[in-house]
Amino acid sequence: MRDDAQRWDARHAGADDVGPLPPDLLRGREDLLPAGGRALDVACGRGAVSRWLAARGFAVDAVDVSPVGLSAVGPGVRTVLHDLDDGLPPSCTGPYDVVVCQRFRDPRLYPQLAASLAPGGLLVITVLSEVDEGPGPFRAPAGELRAAFAGLDVLVDVEQDGEAGLVARSAG
Ligand SMILES: C[S@@+](CC[C@H](N)C(=O)[O-])C[C@H]1O[C@@H](n2cnc3c(N)ncnc32)[C@H](O)[C@@H]1O
Repeated sequence: MRDDAQRWDARHAGADDVGPLPPDLLRGREDLLPAGGRALDVACGRGAVSRWLAARGFAVDAVDVSPVGLSAVGPGVRTVLHDLDDGLPPSCTGPYDVVVCQRFRDPRLYPQLAASLAPGGLLVITVLSEVDEGPGPFRAPAGELRAAFAGLDVLVDVEQDGEAGLVARSAG
């Protein structure tokens, strides 16, 4: 946690404020979003997606290891300082109507992310991928997300140019 927090604090401290912004994979697909409820933003960074969800009426829990990142999230979102190496925080196990995990990869979390969805809940996840890029320590092998979330109904599946992502819904 110490290393991740310090490294990411430095990056977030130098970043410009952006957003609110929809998750990348929901741009132009906002109709997939449930009408409301609870949302979880995993490794939320400075909270652009959290703020976007909150503006749409979701009660948002936003988790990150970086105090500097969380300090930028702003009002209307519950921030949780937590090292995801330890799994999801005990206070953030769901059920959630929306779970977003964007630009953060930890395959050990995948079962917990799926289990945290409410019936009919929507998962939006993106990771770096080896596809079109080659191996790297933070990159998912081809098909990793599809295999991990095979129990969900996959609505959007992209895997190209070094990125992979899924939008998927749990059984209603
Ligand atoms: C590439 S940023 C993505 C931020 C945001 N999800 C987005 O799409 O803009 C990765 C985030 O993961 C967080 N992070 C890295 N390691 C972490 C850990 N072990 N536990 C919790 N958060 C972590 C960083 O602080 C950073 O905010």
